[in-house]
This record gives sequence, C-alpha cells and structure tokens, in this order.
Amino acid sequence: MANKNVSVWTSIPFWRRSAAWVTGFATILLIWLSFDTLGQITMGTDADLLNKVTKRVPAATVINYKIGYEMSKERGHEVPTIGEKQPFFGKEWSDKDAAALLHLGKLTSQAKNCMDCHTLLGNGAYYAPDLTKAWLDPAWQDGGPLQGMTGKSTVEEAIAEFLQNPSQYPTHARMMPNLGITADEAKGLVAFLKHMSSIDTNGFPRNFSKSVETFKAGGTHAR
Ligand code: HEC
Repeated sequence: MANKNVSVWTSIPFWRRSAAWVTGFATILLIWLSFDTLGQITMGTDADLLNKVTKRVPAATVINYKIGYEMSKERGHEVPTIGEKQPFFGKEWSDKDAAALLHLGKLTSQAKNCMDCHTLLGNGAYYAPDLTKAWLDPAWQDGGPLQGMTGKSTVEEAIAEFLQNPSQYPTHARMMPNLGITADEAKGLVAFLKHMSSIDTNGFPRNFSKSVETFKAGGTHAR
C-alpha cells in the first residue's frame, strides 16, 4: 500500500481519546458544581444573622428582621438586605419557634397547592402574581393599597388576613379563591413568604422591581 497521509480528524483513536477526556472533565466539573451549589443553598444560622454574615438562604429567624431590596451596582440587580429587628406578629421568634412556623407554612403551601396558580422560586404557574418577592411588594407596606384594603397595620397581619379571606378583597380581574386557610396556617404562610423574600435569587424574578416602579409612579400595579 502506498504511504497515505491520514488526517487526525479521521482517526478513530483520536476521537475515542477525546471523548474519554471530555467525559472525565465534565464529570469532575459537575461534581464540583454540585458541592458548590450545596454550599450556596445551605440555610444559614441564627448566629450568622447576629454576626451579619450574609447567606444566600438565611435562617428561619430572619422573620425577626426588616427585609429590604436594594440595587447592587456590582451585580446589576437587586439583592435582599437584612435590616433592623422588627417584631413579627408582635413578637420575636426563637430559633425553634421560627423553624416550626416556617415548616408549617411550607407544608401549607404544598397542601393548598399555591403553585397551581403562583410561581415560587421559579417553579409553578403564571395565573397569579409571582410570590417569590411578594413580601416586599410595597402594596402590602405601610400606606400601600393592599394593606389599607385589609384594615391592618402591619405587613404580616395584612397578608394573613388576605390569605384567610381572599374573596373578600377582590382587587383585580382575577380573584384568589378561599382555600380554607386557618389563622395558624396563614401565619406560617406569611413566615414562608417573608423568608422566601430574603433569599438571594440573583435578582429573580426580573420584572419585580419594574412592577414596583410602575406602582410608585401611580400607575396600575403590574401583576
Ligand atoms: C386558584 C388559584 C390560586 C391559588 C391556588 C392560590 N392563589 Fe394566591 N392569588 C391568586 C390570584 C388570582 C391572586 C391575585 C388576586 C388579586 O390581585 O386580587 C392571588 C394573590 C395572592 C397574593 C397577593 C399577591 C401580591 O402581589 O402580593 C398572595 C400573597 C397570595 N395570593 C398567596 C397565596 C398562597 C400563599 C397560596 C397557597 C396557600 C395561594 N395564594 C394560592 C390565585 C391563587
């Protein structure tokens, strides 16, 4: 046979070796990313909050603090901020009680299937407003129309009242149905919503601050 110059691109051993290297590299990368993600989403502790250590997912006792939402120049989107202590349903919650309340709220959100209509942390439906940052919605804050509508003077009492009797407070074309939520379940759900709003979600959902601006400008609140 004549001495033929075989191109590397048609060499089977070359492709076999490449496939082995790429698979090996991707496997290591995925393992590393999995551990990194686990570290990022591990819940912080009460001590982190006291020592002002920023965690992507703060401890349940974050419900004892005022949560803000501020633009970060470096990151190019809003990030939650944890401010002064603020009573939640009139008191400060211990580590154990805060965790139990949050747990009740999470179970209730699953039992009542909020995701059927709402989106939570990117999962769920778009029939009703995204709840990821609902706690921070100025409409629930002092002087906001939703708070005013319920006649309550704190964000938590206003949302809890709404959750127990949504059909009494029709605000938009779509109405949230009564889901038979008890007073305790409503407290748990509000803790769940407040905690969720304190999670650093890289600025997700993107349109949240825009709807807030529309609201501030006196337009209809985007939903
Ligand atoms: C059948 C659909 C449906 C289900 C299930 C549902 N909701 Fe709603 N919810 C709505 C609709 C529609 C609205 C908008 C009501 C309005 O603006 O008048 C709403 C509004 C809300 C609001 C106010 C939104 C805001 O911008 O702050 C909150 C908070 C809320 N729901 C929480 C919940 C929670 C918690 C659950 C689960 C326990 C739940 N919803 C289950 C349909 C639903």
